[in-house]
Amino acid sequence: MWPFKRRKGAAEQGAGDQSGRRGFLSLGGRRYMADAPYMLPKDDAEINRLDFQHYMLRYVLRGNYAPPLQRPRDILDVGCGTGRWSQEMARIFPEARVIALDIVAPPTEASPQDPSRPPNYQFVEGDVLKGLPFDAACFDFTHQRALLGAIPESAWPGVARELARVTRPGGWVQLIEPAPAPQGGSGMNALASWIQQASMRRGINTTAGARIGEFLAQAGLRDITAREIGIPMGGRAGRIGVMAETNYFSVFANARNFIIAMGVTSAEAYDAALAQAHQELEQGAYISPYYLAYGRRP
Ligand SMILES: C[S@@+](CC[C@H](N)C(=O)[O-])C[C@H]1O[C@@H](n2cnc3c(N)ncnc32)[C@H](O)[C@@H]1O
Repeated sequence: MWPFKRRKGAAEQGAGDQSGRRGFLSLGGRRYMADAPYMLPKDDAEINRLDFQHYMLRYVLRGNYAPPLQRPRDILDVGCGTGRWSQEMARIFPEARVIALDIVAPPTEASPQDPSRPPNYQFVEGDVLKGLPFDAACFDFTHQRALLGAIPESAWPGVARELARVTRPGGWVQLIEPAPAPQGGSGMNALASWIQQASMRRGINTTAGARIGEFLAQAGLRDITAREIGIPMGGRAGRIGVMAETNYFSVFANARNFIIAMGVTSAEAYDAALAQAHQELEQGAYISPYYLAYGRRP
């Protein structure tokens, strides 16, 4: 059923402690990863945000994928988060095998016998920064979304090469990444600046999403399409605006304790900026941009 020749990867190399489990930090009741550059929490509130963001992006993009897929046999989702995208793809393509990979197992792994889980879906633990645990040319469609906060700028070219490597000739790689948080008044500007400073300390460039098309081209992919998707924020933009605003505040609420623990700013200043940003978003018209890029392996 799962004929992949798996290279020795992160899971086999013993990421995390000796039991194979990763280390976590508890900061103010939120659970963060202790041994990866990634700064967003791994807990129920972040699971809800990721599902919510998934529905928002699916709505804006009118679907789960952009390239012209033709009966893919094998699909890979790198950094699958909740596994929502992968499980939907397994239902859209019931004849395909869908592998969802993440450095931490999604919550659905707690109930792998759940009858609602598609039989053609499987989770594999792995760390994309250490190389994917698959041989070359295993997948017809390789997808990676919203890993900007997990990939140091210097690692992007290698990650793109790795995604291209595991994709079959004629197959597609698709990336979606957010732009930096929008600038606005003093509250929004402070939040954007603090998340940028915290990211930079971990080697992460919050503007790298604008270059995903370039990374795919450097990795040898062809027929590249790259575009910006501007999602309007706020109630005036209707349902999608409310979704984008909710997602914006969830990101900052979820990153809060980590940014404060890094000493980038104080809890008081952070909470004041969050309250100020609520007012600014009510008064102004802002866009939450994402970047989409996809290319074909020759
Ligand atoms: C912002 S979430 C995005 C999840 C999913 N792609 C989505 O769009 O809903 C980032 C995910 O990347 C995972 N991650 C972080 N560092 C990783 C790494 N080095 N290798 C694989 N996954 C990683 C996190 O555990 C998290 O699930």
